[in-house]
Amino acid sequence: MSEELVYLNKEELQSLMQTKLEKAGLKESHAKEVANHLTYADLRGVHSHGTVRVEYYAERIAKGGTTIDPAFRFEKTGPSTGVFHADNAIGHVAAKEALGYGIEMAKETGVAIVGVSKMGHSGMLSYYVDLAAQNDLVALAVCQSDPMAVPFGGTKPYFGTNPIAFSAPTNDARPIIFDMATTVQAWGKILDARSKNMPIPNTWAVDENGEATTDANKVNGLLPISGPKGYGLMMMVDILSGSLLGLPFGQHVSSMYSDLSKGRDLGQLFILINPSYFTELDQFKQNLSQMIQELHDNKAAPGFDQVYYPGELSEIRQQEHETSGVPVAKSIYDYLVSDAVHFDRYDHSDAFAETEK
Ligand code: NAI
Repeated sequence: MSEELVYLNKEELQSLMQTKLEKAGLKESHAKEVANHLTYADLRGVHSHGTVRVEYYAERIAKGGTTIDPAFRFEKTGPSTGVFHADNAIGHVAAKEALGYGIEMAKETGVAIVGVSKMGHSGMLSYYVDLAAQNDLVALAVCQSDPMAVPFGGTKPYFGTNPIAFSAPTNDARPIIFDMATTVQAWGKILDARSKNMPIPNTWAVDENGEATTDANKVNGLLPISGPKGYGLMMMVDILSGSLLGLPFGQHVSSMYSDLSKGRDLGQLFILINPSYFTELDQFKQNLSQMIQELHDNKAAPGFDQVYYPGELSEIRQQEHETSGVPVAKSIYDYLVSDAVHFDRYDHSDAFAETEK
């Protein structure tokens, strides 16, 4: 964030976002849940999935592309499996509801695989796997996102930034949470470089010929992490959260920024494992705490201050922000305290051109 910042305590931030989302048309309980989720993202320093998204969500809600009174239905399809039909509700609410069924199922049967069918954008996957870990479960979450990444060796965007999140409980206060997009960088970072007229590293993206570019204005596709390996992972995510649920796949996945009057039909999948069905739970958690300690004891390489476990830097950010306030860009704060619902900035005919008009 380079612009002026305003520091808000988490309750204040949550309340401002909830009010805005309700004003856009979301019912109170849904607006509250989305605001909780976005506050969590900002608290953990993942600002790309926090307050910055409120106006986009408000515009989609106001334009009818989010079902505000969804007919949720959980279809239990086997002893440990189910599909949560989300009726294109806002994704944060749908995914959390679906997770609730999964957690109960994994507690009872040792494992649960739950799909979320036809939902809107569901935000930061850490939020869900964190909840699962708080229930002493090991969790994996994957979801689809709009096609922005070229397949390895290709020229045209085909898969989304398709994230993967994993969590495991420990004997410490907080779980291990690994959560990443399968592209080297998010599209937001390209836009940021564009706006500042800055070059980008040649490992982030390609131009329309599929050649690596350092010119943010020439970007026509994001690169998968680690070449064919990231490409394979994003395909795996798409199969698990799209085709497995009978949903649109690959380049047929809807765009975040085109036609905000329609639901997105996105998919998400949770795989939840109850460790106590495989080993002794306390010992499992103790082993993971020992693992963290041993990683901390690992001598730092030149240029590093220490070894961190996945999610640890977010934990540190969260503690900082809980005490000194959550940083919010002044322009976003001004929007949150204004009467405006949205400024009609996010609806595009060319989905890949910009995220904001
Ligand atoms: P990132 O690159 O910031 O972090 C990836 C992982 O690496 C995290 O688990 C982080 O804890 C770990 N990490 C980072 N630095 C570390 C260090 N020094 N030592 C040890 N571990 C370290 O994450 P990324 O790829 O930018 O994703 C951000 C968020 O965007 C995620 O929460 C993801 O769920 C979300 N996302 C959501 C999408 C959606 O459509 N719902 C699409 C794409 C991403």
